[in-house]
Amino acid sequence: MDRGILRAALVCAALFGAVPLFGQTQPAPAPLIGNISHRQTVSLDGSWRIIVDPYNTGYYDYRLKPRSDGYFQNTHPGMYPKELIEYAFTDTETLEVPGDWNSQRKDLFFYEGPVWYEKDFTYHAKSGDRVFLYVGAANYFSRVWVNGEKACEHEGGFTPFDCEITGVLADGDNFAVISVDNTRRPDGVPTVNTDWWNYGGLTRDVQIVEVPRVFINDYSLQLKKDTADQITGSVHLRLATAPAQVRVRIPELNIDQEFTTNSSSRADVKLHAPGLELWSPEHPKLYDVEISAGSDAVKDRIGFRTIEVSGTDILLNGKPVFLRGISIQEEAPYRSGRAYSEEDARTLLGWAKELGANYVRLAHWPHNENMVRLADEMGLMVWSEIPVYWTIHWSDPATLANAQQQLTDMITRDRNRASVIIWSVGNEAPVSPERVQFMKSLVQAAHEQDPSRLVSAALETHSKGNIRIVDDPLGQDLDVVSSNEYIGWYDHKPEDADSITWQIAYNKPLIISEFGADAKFGLHGKSSELWTEEYQENLYEHQFVMLDKIPTLRGMSPWVLMDFRSPRRPLQGTQDYYNRKGLLSDKGEKKKAFFTLKAYYEKKAQQPAP
Ligand code: GCU
Repeated sequence: MDRGILRAALVCAALFGAVPLFGQTQPAPAPLIGNISHRQTVSLDGSWRIIVDPYNTGYYDYRLKPRSDGYFQNTHPGMYPKELIEYAFTDTETLEVPGDWNSQRKDLFFYEGPVWYEKDFTYHAKSGDRVFLYVGAANYFSRVWVNGEKACEHEGGFTPFDCEITGVLADGDNFAVISVDNTRRPDGVPTVNTDWWNYGGLTRDVQIVEVPRVFINDYSLQLKKDTADQITGSVHLRLATAPAQVRVRIPELNIDQEFTTNSSSRADVKLHAPGLELWSPEHPKLYDVEISAGSDAVKDRIGFRTIEVSGTDILLNGKPVFLRGISIQEEAPYRSGRAYSEEDARTLLGWAKELGANYVRLAHWPHNENMVRLADEMGLMVWSEIPVYWTIHWSDPATLANAQQQLTDMITRDRNRASVIIWSVGNEAPVSPERVQFMKSLVQAAHEQDPSRLVSAALETHSKGNIRIVDDPLGQDLDVVSSNEYIGWYDHKPEDADSITWQIAYNKPLIISEFGADAKFGLHGKSSELWTEEYQENLYEHQFVMLDKIPTLRGMSPWVLMDFRSPRRPLQGTQDYYNRKGLLSDKGEKKKAFFTLKAYYEKKAQQPAP
């Protein structure tokens, strides 16, 4: 039997077992393995065979039994031999991984549905090792089989996941099949309406990860608040019999200490680090850290700093700081499509630095790990967010569990990145009692899982005449109050901003997390003409007049660094399915407003932080 058919057969046979239905809350997955990039890995990136499967024939029986919630019951009896011939992977149809399918294939530009990926790989297991399959991100719902055995499934398009495959790997030839379905779901996170392109596929790296039988699963090391030389944290081992020894080394600080795990295989770490140089945008100092336990050892590069709020000030290492920011969508510069590479990150963050930014708002989900690791190195503070965006199903327990899992995975992956200072639990969600409850629980989870960082969200505002009011009930629970506004674009004229004042119901730091206007690069005219660079430039100038008058303003992240694709922006000849609020075009061409913001930040940087 042709190998391609064999693969289809094995997968279909594997489907015959009882599989959890869509939308049901899955058992909580094992804790995410942290710091993948510094472990023993085998990359599965590159060409994967694919089958575009709009009716999900590879998964469902042709009888498609509908369920009350609109999804379908899988009663797959396995395929008939004839179908298998029709349903086989071939060498002629492939996609590159990492990478979304919309920007790789014109005929998949608007495609929304399942795509099956298949990859043969040779692997020789080392005795005693455990092996996991790690996916940096796959948008939106994925199922993973290895050698025809179901390994795991995952919901959420922007957070990593891993599943153990130790027991199903053969010594030598193996194959993996991953189905990825980017169909938007009303009960999803995000839900069906978003202002970004729904790029589907294996959008980030796929790797085999080898760890010893007992291994370091995740860890956190932070500078203790109100100290300049006390490092605290914990190291979490997997499948260790307590007590076990953990060793932490920071050679540059002459630190080499051992700790013992407790009954939950976690070792609390306390280090005295005299002479510690603190991380900041001006001095992005990172230390080589080595953590070992038994035969496992991981290296990392970690910066140490504190971030806190005092009254209406944000304090970095105990000193007031003003966040000179820019919002960034995860769109690939020059080529468009979902960004994923170190080169993409270096380009995007390089433009932010050119603007004079010391801070970036990564919207509206956890960006690929290259972004936060480079932000550590380049000295940019980061707002990182989960896509609780607009009209989420606030009363659905499965939706809340999904959002909480995405929050946990975002924190687990990036908790050792000094650049990340703010966890955001959402964006522009219409106020209702259910929404407030839903997001309060996320704020509480973020504070519990990571008390070392600030928590915020882009809140709703309303107006009374020329007064813009922020009194969203969620503000009570946030450390930093944030809000988007489009005065001069969606409402008012740009000049009206000069006479608008703000009323904030909370005595907390305020970030204006979005403002801006669309402009097509190269379109010039009067500053009153929509879509011109002059209109955008003029709006920024009037925004600064208004923003400079807000006494509790401690940061801003105008919308947006670079034009990005959105199905909500079709205007032919002007937007062409791009949101054009970028300060750069999708081809990296700087608009006039880029230089307006740059000049403003140069002045701001000279002023003492408020
Ligand atoms: C909203 C939203 C963004 C969107 C922007 C816009 O505030 O947060 O995701 O792209 O406005 O309308 O351009």
